[in-house]
Amino acid sequence: MPICELRGVSRTYGSGPAKVHAVREIDLVIEAGEFTVFVGPSGSGKTTLLNMVGCLDQPSEGEVLIEGRPTAGLSDRALAHLRAERIGFIFQAFNLIPVLTAVENVELAVQLGGGGDGRARARQALAEVGLTGLEGRRPNQLSGGQQQRVAIARALVRKPALVIADEPTANLDSANGAQVLELMRELNEKHGTTFIFSTHDAMVMEHARRTVFLHDGRIARDEVRAAPAPRAGEGR
Ligand SMILES: Nc1ncnc2c1ncn2[C@@H]1O[C@H](COP(=O)(O)OP(=O)(O)O)[C@@H](O)[C@H]1O
Ligand SMILES: [Mg+2]
Repeated sequence: MPICELRGVSRTYGSGPAKVHAVREIDLVIEAGEFTVFVGPSGSGKTTLLNMVGCLDQPSEGEVLIEGRPTAGLSDRALAHLRAERIGFIFQAFNLIPVLTAVENVELAVQLGGGGDGRARARQALAEVGLTGLEGRRPNQLSGGQQQRVAIARALVRKPALVIADEPTANLDSANGAQVLELMRELNEKHGTTFIFSTHDAMVMEHARRTVFLHDGRIARDEVRAAPAPRAGEGR
């Protein structure tokens, strides 16, 4: 069963002459375990589409199914529950809470979801993103790349099926951006977590297995890259 399916999804903003068609008649199936990027110029609909995939926003027309389940009839409360249980979010500007330490930022995500053992799980998640030893630092005591790692730990600490990342490398230099992408790819392979992210950076696109090109709110191209050939001596 696909992790997410969009059927005839459109999203408009405003009305009358000011009406904007941000996303138009999109059909899209995302299978569990994908590492997929939405690419397109500014204004092409990447954020609007990601917000609907992540159930932060609802389509004007069409439907979004998560793990085969339609989301259209769900109350705000049920949608919040679905997001908390199944979906993690990573943002361009990291969105960490400045007065909390790294471990407290991650622990808060566990507590908000009603989980126990928050401190231990937060430390484990920070270890997985390579931040052991920096748990007690506040965001302003961490580099941009380290802050985004904390945000990745926060998104993953409750073991979501799906992670949505809107331009996760846009506030990073290219070396840190590449490291963050590499880390996301490792976590995708290790845990089978589905990642859907957006970018307008060609370097970032290289890391994706599937690239969905958006233009004026429509899918212009949808390309799946073949798995890289095994290196000599690896596998059979
Ligand atoms: N809240 C909003 N109100 C009105 N128009 C919006 C809103 N959000 C996005 N748009 C418009 O929808 C289109 C798609 O925007 P967006 O999804 O943010 O694209 P991208 O993330 O690719 O830059 C743009 O024309 C944008 O101006
Ligand atoms: Mg955007």
